[in-house]
Amino acid sequence: MEDLLNKLNEQNELTKIEIVYFLQHLTLELQKRLFHLAVETRKKHYNESVYLRGLIEFSNYCKQDCMYCGLRRSNPEVDRYRLTEEEILECAAEGYNLGYRSFVLQSGEDFRYTEELMVRIVKSLKARFPDAAITLSMGERSEAFYRALYAAGTDRYLLRHETASRSLYESLHPGMSFDNRMNCLRILKDIGYQVGAGFMVGLPEQTHEHLAEDLLFLKEFHPAMIGIGPFIPHSATPLKDTAGGTIEDTLVMIALARLFVPDALMPATTAMGTLDPTGREQALSAGANVVMPNLSPLRFREKYELYENKICTGDQASQCRNCIEMRIMASGYQIELSRGDNCNFISTP
Ligand code: SAM
Ligand code: SF4
Ligand code: FES
Repeated sequence: MEDLLNKLNEQNELTKIEIVYFLQHLTLELQKRLFHLAVETRKKHYNESVYLRGLIEFSNYCKQDCMYCGLRRSNPEVDRYRLTEEEILECAAEGYNLGYRSFVLQSGEDFRYTEELMVRIVKSLKARFPDAAITLSMGERSEAFYRALYAAGTDRYLLRHETASRSLYESLHPGMSFDNRMNCLRILKDIGYQVGAGFMVGLPEQTHEHLAEDLLFLKEFHPAMIGIGPFIPHSATPLKDTAGGTIEDTLVMIALARLFVPDALMPATTAMGTLDPTGREQALSAGANVVMPNLSPLRFREKYELYENKICTGDQASQCRNCIEMRIMASGYQIELSRGDNCNFISTP
C-alpha cells in the first residue's frame, strides 16, 4: 500500500489491478493520508480557493427513465415545471447581484428547450452578464445543438458519464446507449467546451472493478470538471430498496479522482450535503474545490427532486450564499467568485 500511495502521488495513476487492491486494503490511517495528498495536489493548482457556481434548475421535465433518478419520466408523482426565459434571467440577475460570476443551467432532458430557445437564453445571459461563465447541463443532444450553443457563448457543459462500465450503464439506463453518452462527451470536448464528466458511488451492483474503470476513464478523457456524488435511492424509483452510496466511499473516490486528474475542478456535491450535514466540507477536505449553491426560485426547489431530503430547498439564494460562505471559511478555505475556469483551459476564439 505504501508503494501505491507513492505511485499515486508521484505518477498520478494506478493500473486497474492496483486500484482494486488499493480499495480493498484501505485502512482509516491510509485514508487520512490519501485525503492529505489529494488536498496538497489541489493546492498546487488552485491554492485554497473554493469556486462558487450559482445553480439554476430550469426544468424538471425529462424524456429519459434513468433507474436511479426521481425525475425519470415514469415517475407520475413529480409536479413538473419549466422556467421561462425571463425567469431564468431573473435567477441569474439575483445571483449576479450576490456576486456569482458562474452559472450552471441544469434540467432533465426536456426538448421543449429547443436549440433556438437555448441560443436565445445563452445570448441574453452573455449580453447582460458578459463577465460570467455559462455552463449547461441538459443531457444528450445532437452535435449541431452542442455546436450552436457553444457558438452562442456557452463556456462549459456537464454530462456525467454516470459509470464507465458498459453493462452497468445499460442496466441503469433503459433506452439509452453507452456509446452515445461517450460520443456526446467526446464531441463536447472537440467543440471546445470545458467538459464535466463524473459518476455516482454506491450504485447497485457497482464493484471496485467498476470504480476502477471510472478512474481510468477520467484519466484518459481528462475532463475540465469532475462531479462525483453518492447515489441516494429515491422512493418513487425502481431502486428504492437499494442501499445507496456512503459518504466515506465517495470521499475516497473524490480523493482518488483528484490524484488521477490533478487540475480538475471538482464540486463538493449537494448529494454529499444531503447524506451528512458536513458532507460538502468533508468533500473539500478530500480534494474537491467547487460548491454550487442553489439559485432556482424557491417555489420550484422541492420539485427538482433527484433524491429525497435534498438540502437548500427552503432557503433563499442569499441565505444559501451566506450559509455556504460561512461553511467554506470555517473549513479554512477562501471563497472565489470569479468565473473559475479550469487552470489549464485555454479558450479558442
Ligand atoms: N438530465 C441531465 C443528465 O442526466 O445529464 C442533467 C441533470 S441530472 C438530474 C444531474 C445528475 O444527477 C445526473 O448526472 C446524476 O448523476 C445525478 N443523479 C440523478 N439521480 C440521482 C440520485 N438518486 N442520487 C444521486 N445523484 C443522482
Ligand atoms: Fe433525466 Fe438526468 Fe434524471 Fe436521467 S438523471 S432521468 S436524464 S434528469
Ligand atoms: Fe444552501 Fe446551506 S448552502 S442553505
